Amino acid sequence: MSTEKSFKLDGKTIPFEDGDTIMDAALRAGEYIPHLCHNPEFTPHGSCRVCIVDVNGRQVSACTQPATENSEVINSSEQIMSQRRSLLQMLFVEGNHVCPACEKSGACQLQAVAYYTKMLSPHFTHFFPQRTVDASHPDTAIDFNRCILCELCVRASRDFDQKNIFAIDGRGIRSHLVINSPSGELGDTDFSAEDKAAHVCPVGAILPKHKGYERPIGDRLYDRKPISVVGDVAAHEFDQE
Ligand code: SF4
Ligand code: FES
Repeated sequence: MSTEKSFKLDGKTIPFEDGDTIMDAALRAGEYIPHLCHNPEFTPHGSCRVCIVDVNGRQVSACTQPATENSEVINSSEQIMSQRRSLLQMLFVEGNHVCPACEKSGACQLQAVAYYTKMLSPHFTHFFPQRTVDASHPDTAIDFNRCILCELCVRASRDFDQKNIFAIDGRGIRSHLVINSPSGELGDTDFSAEDKAAHVCPVGAILPKHKGYERPIGDRLYDRKPISVVGDVAAHEFDQE
């Protein structure tokens, strides 16, 4: 008799190991749970809530919720999808996301997850926040208009690069990404295009210079297959072949 622990995800049996979150086990089993602030290489953060699932009637973030034996997890009900759409719509109106003009369009996780959840419009009124672009670094540009505050760059710079170049300042609606340097500009740090933090942004906020619009529309990461099929590892490699 098998002693493997498992839970049900939309009725499907998902095996898990001690210490797994629902997200860990689902991704390992090839099941997609939408997510933005989660990246398997990093400690879960639980901030975007896009990975919300229903566990035995309670709503939790799949990226932080430990898997438990015999639980019933609902990932794709219309109710869960509708809540995800609302969260995504808020992310779209809180920033300035002009997809047709963004070079990350077609390779952007925010856009790809919005397609996946069948989001058709922003629904809410746009905030049109006043944000800037930092082009001070020779190899990397930051467009703060597109930042969704996932903190992946913060975690990457702190935990992988040992540099602590990024931080989140302010609270609630005033939260924003800042650069730890005397001028507040990236060019005034020891940031390198080789840093982990240069390659983790799920949207078009941290972009490599010298290769803008290199890939034509129709040939970008999610142009041929949806994010649920492409998966989240490749999703972080904007410039991947
Ligand atoms: Fe996340 Fe990108 Fe904003 Fe950093 S710049 S917090 S990686 S969205
Ligand atoms: Fe789980 Fe963001 S992916 S909260």
